[in-house]
Amino acid sequence: MMERTENPAAFNRQVHQMFNAIAPRYDLLNRLLSGGRDRYWRRRAVARLAPKPGEHFLDIATGTADVALEIVRQSNTREVQVVAMDFSEPMLELARQKIESQDRAGMIQLQTGSAENLPFADHSFDGTTTAFGVRNFSDVSGSLREMVRVLKPGGRSVILEFALPRHPVLNFLYRLYFETLLPRVGRWVSRHPSAYTYLPESVAAFPVREEFKSRMQRAGFDEVTYRELTFGMVILYTGIRRV
Ligand SMILES: C[S@@+](CC[C@H](N)C(=O)[O-])C[C@H]1O[C@@H](n2cnc3c(N)ncnc32)[C@H](O)[C@@H]1O
Repeated sequence: MMERTENPAAFNRQVHQMFNAIAPRYDLLNRLLSGGRDRYWRRRAVARLAPKPGEHFLDIATGTADVALEIVRQSNTREVQVVAMDFSEPMLELARQKIESQDRAGMIQLQTGSAENLPFADHSFDGTTTAFGVRNFSDVSGSLREMVRVLKPGGRSVILEFALPRHPVLNFLYRLYFETLLPRVGRWVSRHPSAYTYLPESVAAFPVREEFKSRMQRAGFDEVTYRELTFGMVILYTGIRRV
């Protein structure tokens, strides 16, 4: 995989092609490789978002729309609106089937678009969510600025991203799994030669915790916080647009 900093456009193209290719097996591999834990991480993220009736949300890099569906579920009302956006058409097609099968088509609108250049006016949303997306964006800081731009004053963003556990023993065991078993199972099930090698490599190279918090602050977020989930394998970041 091309380095993001080397050539952002080429990196973007490669990520796009990779997600198009793995889309049919994406949900299965999520459940398998996380031992079902991925659902819990998304539930926690949406609980942090605390969706309320009448609010309007944007799920960036929605994939097969699991976070968008969780927003609708937790808001416990039909009066919530979610735009589920992704640049991968195959992912959006799977999202569409899942949304229709759960009778949520009236509450979730699908949209093709890129995180680096959100196709929405300023101050459009009460909240944004991005689960396991930012690590793949070709311009991470620019995408964070885009999140702030589309939020209404007082709006909030919730970001989930992988990290490596800090505890040395857990870190060792996790890396063993993440860098040896996971790429093999991922390659075998997805039939993609490198997507599940890219996953641990991109996690190891991505700024996390305090470093990512600073990036969010520099992009214009206020009250940035983060908490560790599942021994720090996943981090849940939140930020507010105050004005
Ligand atoms: C690891 S998946 C996460 C999907 C979903 N949020 C979830 O929780 O399962 C990453 C998704 O981000 C999308 N993506 C990656 N880069 C993107 C970008 N620059 N703009 C829009 N979508 C992007 C991919 O197509 C893919 O569907």
